[in-house]
Amino acid sequence: MNGWLRMALSRMPAGWARLGMATGAAAVLAAVPAAAFGAAPDAAALAARTTFTPDEVAQILQHGPWPPRRLPDASNRVAASARAAAFGQRLFFDTRLSSSGTISCASCHVPEFQWTDRRPTATGLGDAERNTPSVANTRFNRWFGWAGATDSLWAASLRPFADTREMGSSERHVAALVRSQPDLECGYRQVFGQPPAATEDDKVLADIGKALAAFQATLVTGRTPFDDFRDALARGDRSVQARYPEAAKRGLRLFIGRGQCSLCHLGPQFSNGEFDQVGIPVRRADGRFDWGRYDGIKAVRASRFSLLGRFSDDRKGSTGESTRRVALTVEAYGQFKVPGLRNAALTAPYMHDGSIATLTSVVRHYSTINDEKLILAAPHPHAEPGEEQPERPTGSVLRTLNLGEREIADLVAFLDTLTETRTGPNRRPLPAAASARPISPDPRPCG
Ligand code: HEC
Ligand code: HEC
Repeated sequence: MNGWLRMALSRMPAGWARLGMATGAAAVLAAVPAAAFGAAPDAAALAARTTFTPDEVAQILQHGPWPPRRLPDASNRVAASARAAAFGQRLFFDTRLSSSGTISCASCHVPEFQWTDRRPTATGLGDAERNTPSVANTRFNRWFGWAGATDSLWAASLRPFADTREMGSSERHVAALVRSQPDLECGYRQVFGQPPAATEDDKVLADIGKALAAFQATLVTGRTPFDDFRDALARGDRSVQARYPEAAKRGLRLFIGRGQCSLCHLGPQFSNGEFDQVGIPVRRADGRFDWGRYDGIKAVRASRFSLLGRFSDDRKGSTGESTRRVALTVEAYGQFKVPGLRNAALTAPYMHDGSIATLTSVVRHYSTINDEKLILAAPHPHAEPGEEQPERPTGSVLRTLNLGEREIADLVAFLDTLTETRTGPNRRPLPAAASARPISPDPRPCG
């Protein structure tokens, strides 16, 4: 096994198989058909072109196929229900769910902006400290939010209700609304087969999260030029391979090679689903600290809506395995989720605090990263009052890359090819109600 694969696999989370991905180097390599290394075409034609070694081909292939298999979510009994998705879609655009009646999920996750808001940090009823991530492709996640403070798509969908800076409502507000508004009451009944529980606000809230999750699970990004290249590489189709821009090929070689990007941005989503520190300061502009994963672990363990709690529909509880195993370690301090990179060209600004404006600046950031910057970004581990100060974690894989201008442009050209270009069976057209405008209550409530 080569060094890269060994490193990458050691960083691959144990629950990977859930996403239907290859779990070992053997599987990755076996997926490379002999044709990919077939007879060389005439040398003149190749001279100007970037070609990949068998090792590189194996690494490229593990970033697909796209879309991945859609495995069911056992923790959500309506995850795959079309009726729940339709109800969830209406909820997603419904401002009544906020305390002021002015904010919906789509106020921040704006469909036209690839389900983000183009702001460095989110603004709802107040100012939040983190950047709004896209909700597309979240069905493939294991942890949610920049710190992984929630462990299911439905629990992540409940989080903004309680945040006073986001929607500022509560389980009581949401449950009362679902009981009293005819369109919501009836939508709930149709999806869950019974009226909203009269007294159990938490249960109604969890169910609303599950309908919202069913809708968001339909948001899968489309095929990209990279996917066409990757699949052509897998079947040895040289004419399709030739259509992929040379600059993107050079950028891809850097991404999987010297740049070491795919140590973390791994697999079809270009994320290993885990957390790391890449030199983005934990101290915020207002002087407070965002401890990232360290607090995320505490939050997920404390949440009554986690996969270990009674609102999970997974009777066997196997979906909660990662939550059960997650341990509060000092490495978690100052770490943030490795974001997927599909459609990243459409979701500026970047990083958990929205502090980097363009993809070129992101690549420059990695190019100039060094130990000093990493230490400055997270100067000392986070101790609670009265706790002993822990040792600073060491051992980042990040190295100063010193990229030249052309290499920076090549990496950006590659990242640009992770942008969807057309819709396919894997991506539904934007929902009819997809607009930043709030929608009025459904005029045709069911009987
Ligand atoms: C005020 C802006 C705002 C509103 C309103 C809002 N969100 Fe978010 N959303 C965010 C931010 C910011 C994060 C990242 C939170 C964090 O890391 O702590 C996020 C994270 C998420 C995630 C996790 C995504 C990932 O990649 O892990 C999901 C899912 C989500 N929101 C769904 C919703 C739903 C559903 C609603 C409506 C009920 C909603 N959001 C309302 C700003 C908002
Ligand atoms: C050690 C793991 C690791 C490596 C190696 C790594 N990244 Fe990242 N990447 C991350 C993490 C973690 C974040 C989020 C950091 C934060 O918000 O504080 C991130 C964020 C990003 C983002 C911003 C995405 C968004 O939506 O905000 C881009 C783009 C990106 N990385 C590209 C790259 C490229 C290109 C390389 C190689 C030069 C690379 N990364 C190497 C872990 C890594």
